[in-house]
Amino acid sequence: MKLWSGRFSADTDALVDELNASLPFDRRLYKEDIEGSIAHADMLAAQGVIDRAEADLIIATLGDILKDIEAGNFEFKLADEDIHMSIEAELTRRIGDAGKRLHTARSRNDQVALDLRLYLKRRIEDIHGEVLHLIRALYKIAAATTDAVMPAYTHLQRAQPTTFAHHIMAYAAMFRRDVTRLEDCTERMDYSPLGSGALTGTTYPIDRMAVAKALGFAGITENSMDGVSDRDYVIELLSDLSILMMHLSRFSEEIILWCSWEFKFIELSDRYSTGSSIMPQKKNPDVAELVRGKTGRVYGSLMALLTTMKGLPLAYNKDLQEDKEQVFDAVDTVLKCLPVFTAMLETMTINRTRMRSAALQGFINATDCADYLVRKGLPFRDAYTVIGRIVAECVRRGCTLETMTLEEYRAFSPLFDDDVFKAVRLETCVANRQVPGGPAPKAVEVQLEGVRKFLEERGVTLHDEA
Ligand code: ARG
Repeated sequence: MKLWSGRFSADTDALVDELNASLPFDRRLYKEDIEGSIAHADMLAAQGVIDRAEADLIIATLGDILKDIEAGNFEFKLADEDIHMSIEAELTRRIGDAGKRLHTARSRNDQVALDLRLYLKRRIEDIHGEVLHLIRALYKIAAATTDAVMPAYTHLQRAQPTTFAHHIMAYAAMFRRDVTRLEDCTERMDYSPLGSGALTGTTYPIDRMAVAKALGFAGITENSMDGVSDRDYVIELLSDLSILMMHLSRFSEEIILWCSWEFKFIELSDRYSTGSSIMPQKKNPDVAELVRGKTGRVYGSLMALLTTMKGLPLAYNKDLQEDKEQVFDAVDTVLKCLPVFTAMLETMTINRTRMRSAALQGFINATDCADYLVRKGLPFRDAYTVIGRIVAECVRRGCTLETMTLEEYRAFSPLFDDDVFKAVRLETCVANRQVPGGPAPKAVEVQLEGVRKFLEERGVTLHDEA
């Protein structure tokens, strides 16, 4: 028999029950639902709305139910529709009338909004921790490769020399922004909607702030209509996760390129690679490909929820139940990808020789050679033209800026001297880029220090393997 059977004379159709039920996916909110109910019951007693003895019985029994669920001794029945009714029904089965008083001054509309905020705050914490671990791994890789010269690319064409550390620190910068985005998201989500009731609050003298405090929220939502119908925090989290996945996906794309035979800048550990069923020689970067692939489903969740929300009038509409599968899937996906991605990076081998020899081809020191002439007094535009001619000549003859003779240089400009060879050395080119943010080992040290402080402020130390 349905909770609302008083108003109805017929049972709902079985297919409607199936469509309507959210229990198969919202049962994961059991812990937050019980914690919310305990705080609510306690507050109701403190405010004299229900009896203290009854509240204590409710609280103790909810504790038992929590233990039973965690021990796998709880039967979830689809007929109970959702996790909220499932737990309330069991409570009432166990303690009768006292259980029936729990839902005083509350609606499932504010209850589900509360549960979801509590749940997502925790998952954000998990994700936040995983991103910090990833940044720590990047720090370690970069700290060990500040002198590993590699080509930096624009248009995927070799452009100028940099170091592996500098390239890796670019990703550290992206993931730092992801960390602070998640922190912002938590901050905005950190308000308890309980007490919004179905949509216009309640007539009971409840203490919303006490419940919020008991549950660890910073405060309470300001408007009851908004409190039950707002899903900005879910959309914001999905946006943050989409951006995070976009970063992971770009990185994955580079990993995939780098372990191709064409690059061979890195080799992934066997533990983080897979083979082919037919081609015996293959070693595939499936982890990176899957991370890149799964990015699409996280974007999909963001689009799905934005679309669900766009036409909803105030306040609660059942459409809102569609938020959960999307955000749960996104959170699960991100939490599945991050630790594996980090471990894949931690165990890869970096091939400095391959990176350096790639950097030796493609005239990536041409800008530096032009800068050399500028230091000798030539305006940059003229220097640029001279070097362009030299490069064209080198391409014709199959030589490089390093292998030209001084005489050959001088045929293009009398300003060239013996010191040009030092100027075009890759290590010189890198070391001269000391500008803040640049690839010179000294400049990268500053970036590393920034990351170290960022991690330290968040309780992550670089040394112990926590
Ligand atoms: N299970 C619902 C949800 O996930 C909460 C229930 C609100 N239902 C209602 N008929 N007002 O959004």
